[in-house]
Parts: sequence; C-alpha cells; structure tokens
Amino acid sequence: MSSPSVPALLERIAAAGKAYEHNQESGSREDLIDLSQSLVAALEIPSEFIQRSFWSEPAKSAHIRLAVDVELFQHLRDAGAAGLSPAALASKTGLDAPLLQRILRHLAATKVVAFRAGRWCGTPLSDGLAEQRYQHSVAFCYDVARPSFAGFPAYFRATGYRQPTSLTDGPFQTAHKTKLPFFDWLVATPPHLAHFDSFMSAYRAGKPNWWDFYPVVERLAAGFDPQTHGDVLLVDVGGGRGHDLAHFAQVHGSHPGRLVLQDREPVIATAGQSDRFEAQAHDFFTPQPVAGARAYALHSILHDWDDAEGVRILENLKPALKRGVLARPAQRDRAVRGQADAGRDVHGHDDAGALRGAGAHRAGLARHRRARGLAGGGDLQLPGRGGECHRGGVGLEQIDR
Ligand SMILES: C[S@@+](CC[C@H](N)C(=O)[O-])C[C@H]1O[C@@H](n2cnc3c(N)ncnc32)[C@H](O)[C@@H]1O
Repeated sequence: MSSPSVPALLERIAAAGKAYEHNQESGSREDLIDLSQSLVAALEIPSEFIQRSFWSEPAKSAHIRLAVDVELFQHLRDAGAAGLSPAALASKTGLDAPLLQRILRHLAATKVVAFRAGRWCGTPLSDGLAEQRYQHSVAFCYDVARPSFAGFPAYFRATGYRQPTSLTDGPFQTAHKTKLPFFDWLVATPPHLAHFDSFMSAYRAGKPNWWDFYPVVERLAAGFDPQTHGDVLLVDVGGGRGHDLAHFAQVHGSHPGRLVLQDREPVIATAGQSDRFEAQAHDFFTPQPVAGARAYALHSILHDWDDAEGVRILENLKPALKRGVLARPAQRDRAVRGQADAGRDVHGHDDAGALRGAGAHRAGLARHRRARGLAGGGDLQLPGRGGECHRGGVGLEQIDR
C-alpha cells in the first residue's frame, strides 16, 4: 500500500483540524497528532531523520533529565508569563550561564520551552512536566528504561535474536548488571520504585479510562447486592499506589460497596491513606484474598508476564470468583469503541516485557482463550483492538445470569 501523498495528508489534517477546533470531536486530537507524524514521515529525508532520531531527540531527553535535577521547569512555571532572564535562570538553577543557554536553545528549538523578548518562558508542556509525577516519570524513563533500550542490539546479537524467556536474564538485567527480576530490582534500588509508581500514575494521565465509557452504573453498580456478593464492588489487582481507584471513586462518587487496592507490600507501604479505598498487600501469584467481589480489574498487568505466569495470576484469581456468577465481555458498541479509540496511543511503545527482561510479550489470543476457560466457561471481559487505553489489561466482570 502506497503512503498517502502530502496534499492528501494536508486535506485530512484540515478536516481533522476543523473537527478539533469546532466540536472537540472525540479522537480528533489524536488524529491530528497521527496525521502530523505521517506528514513528517512523508517530508523528511533520511539525513533529517537521522539528525532528529539519533541526535536531536536523545539530546532533548538528556537535557530534560538534567532539567529535572535542577528544577528548571519549576522555575520557569513559577515565573509565569514574564519568564526569567538568562542570568536569573542561571542563578536559580545553579548552571553555568553559557551551558544553560546551550541547553535551553535546544529545548526551545524542540518546542519544549520558549524564548520571548530576551527571556526564557515555560510552555504548557514544560509547565506540565514540572509536576512531580512527570518529573519522576522522566527520571524513571531515562535512568531505568533508556539503558535497556540502548542495550537491545548488543543483547540480542549476543543471544541469537531470541525472545527473552527468563525473568532474570534479559536486556534489563544486562543493562543494570543485576540478576534480580524487574519488580524486585525496583524495590532494591531506591529511588526507582517511587519513580516507577509515579510513572504508573502518569503514563496515561489525560486519556479516557475504562470507567469513562464502560456503563458502570448500569452494569457494575446496578444489581450489586452485599448480601449475595459480599460488600466489595471493585478490586484493583496490581493497582500501584491507587491512582486508578482514586480517579474511579472521584468520577463515581456514589458507587455502592468497598473499593480495594492490592499491590506488593513495598508499594502499598507508600500508597498513603485514602478515605476512598482500602489498601491491601497482596502478591497476585498467591490466592486472591477478597472473595466474591463484583469486579476485579487487572490493568496493564498481564502484559508484564509470559503466558504461563499470566495463567498463574488468573488461576489464583479464579477461586475468588463467586460460583454462579459469570463474567462476560463488555459490549463494544460504536459509541464505546469511539471513546476507546479516542484513548488510543498515538506514539506506540516497544514491548514492555522485553524491556524488563520479564520474558513477556503482548498477551496473545491463545492466552485470552485460556483466560476465558479460567473464567469458568463464561465470557471474559477482554478489551479488544482499538481499546488501546486498556492495552495489556484485562477486567473480569462478574454478572448474574
Ligand atoms: C505496569 S504496573 C500497572 C499499574 C496499574 N494497574 C496501572 O495500570 O497503572 C504493574 C503493577 O503490578 C504490580 N505487581 C508486580 N508484581 C506483583 C505481584 N507479584 N503481586 C501484586 N502486584 C504486583 C507492580 O507493583 C505494579 O504496580
């Protein structure tokens, strides 16, 4: 299939631009980003591609990581529209003024910060990046993920271009000179666990969540009967520090039943108290302690593991599913699909499991079929293609029949 021509792309950009400008139509923002990337791909020549991908963008990442250390974006944000003179910013960050200028020129050229009337100013992007969860995300992606990616070619050359199958011997372990599995390494090497947990709370921020388009009131809350089902509405299995549950509770403030957050003990220990949900240390490779909840969410969990471990996680959940209650797929009518598409990932990601050396790959059809079997013959809610905001996640919904 030939790539669309530049004029054809421009026409589509104009149409998506109208939809975005006039109606804020669902998905139009993502369309515009996607089409803009197609336009760059159609226009860029190889020398420019190399300059951008292997010079400008790595330098930008390094500068942003340095910016985190010296709170550059926070200083710009706090200065507001007036911005800061180069000398004032150098004094606040402690950077040598000429070095700071070189870094900032690159960040301005790549649209991260702005230079107006001789002063450095923040942008909506850099002001957003000043938030702690994004500062931690930058630190995690740069300090932990980037060395793994950088080591891919050497690792796979050395291992015969085979998919990693061990939790303790992958590109991640080679890059970080460890034999620990990814999640254990995070705990053992502060501050990476805290940075990872912040990254989890931020990596999808601003995108639609399943509770934004799933009929929570009609399907989850309606028919919820504490006498029959127990008093737990939703268990977020591997829910980090509770970012999903906190948001769910905010949107569905009048939900019935209890909300339970589960994760590993070191994560729960830093989750903090919440009046919206209860936090419980639980290893999902052990039997699920909350029996008969209305729903269990496993959001971005199974993609971290290979098929055998994914099945073990589901096997440990299965006895908790209340007898006589089935799970079934969410109806993916057009409206739901449209909203899910609006949450799609416009940047694409490499395989997180390979990165971590977890031996995992994207949950495949075979696993989904096996998971259906585990759900006692009932259907299982398995987000399909297009629902990228659920990628790697599986929700089990218990429904009376
Ligand atoms: C990719 S994160 C997903 C976090 C969250 N569900 C989300 O979608 O943002 C995977 C989560 O699984 C948790 N986890 C890893 N191993 C676990 C285990 N054995 N038992 C329980 N949770 C675990 C991690 O601590 C982390 O919070």
